Amino acid sequence: MSFSPHPPSNGLIGHRGLAALAPENTLSSFLLAAKYGLEWIEFDLRLTQDNNLVIFHDETLNRTTNHQGKLAQCTTAKVKSLDAGSWFSPEFKNEPIPFFTEILPKLLNLNIYLNIELKLSSKPTIIEQNTLAQIFLKTLKTHWPKQKPWQLISCAHWPLLMDLRAHIADLPLGFLSNNCNASIIRHLKTIPNAAFHCYFKALTEPMIAHLKVQQIPFLAYTVNNLDIANSLLKSGAFAIFSDFPLK
Ligand code: G3P
Ligand code: MG
Repeated sequence: MSFSPHPPSNGLIGHRGLAALAPENTLSSFLLAAKYGLEWIEFDLRLTQDNNLVIFHDETLNRTTNHQGKLAQCTTAKVKSLDAGSWFSPEFKNEPIPFFTEILPKLLNLNIYLNIELKLSSKPTIIEQNTLAQIFLKTLKTHWPKQKPWQLISCAHWPLLMDLRAHIADLPLGFLSNNCNASIIRHLKTIPNAAFHCYFKALTEPMIAHLKVQQIPFLAYTVNNLDIANSLLKSGAFAIFSDFPLK
């Protein structure tokens, strides 16, 4: 099966929502992305200590909340009490960290295409990987509307992606890497309905040529310069992740 998602018509995906104008990975960021007419947003999912899925990027709470420490060591009750907006601007004081199952109906109502990136810790154990895969699968099975097509799920861990694919055969997948090399491309070639999500500086001309010959869709992150974004799109990128995805 070829890659099933449709690319955004302007080529751009709002990275963590509309992260240049609102606190990343929050409802405000997603609503603003929709208000600006974005067709796609990306966001990150992690587990709390008590295994609830939350939309959050960093392994620690330090940068984007009023609390310190690891998110994975924080309970649902604690996460719900945090302010994930003030670090960005006082205007967003008390913006909550979104819980995936609570925010999903709102996101689906926006009619915006989603790229859900699954995040593990920097040195994940097999248990951590299996737990995230199982909880995410269970959540999709109970909360994803039956008539709604699957959307793009990405992760930097192949085993986790393959676990998802084993349970949902037509799930579009994105493998994330800061590097691009022949071995990644060879591996991707064997996986149907999968794309390569790559750090934009690793997408050199020879690598792009190789990806195109192998017919592997590629997406570039994170590009906040319109000339670079346009040049990558011209080279054949499926889409570009940007904090300021407006043309
Ligand atoms: O999915 C593209 C991009 O979000 C990957 O980098 O660190 O912003 O999640 P990061
Ligand atoms: Mg991400």
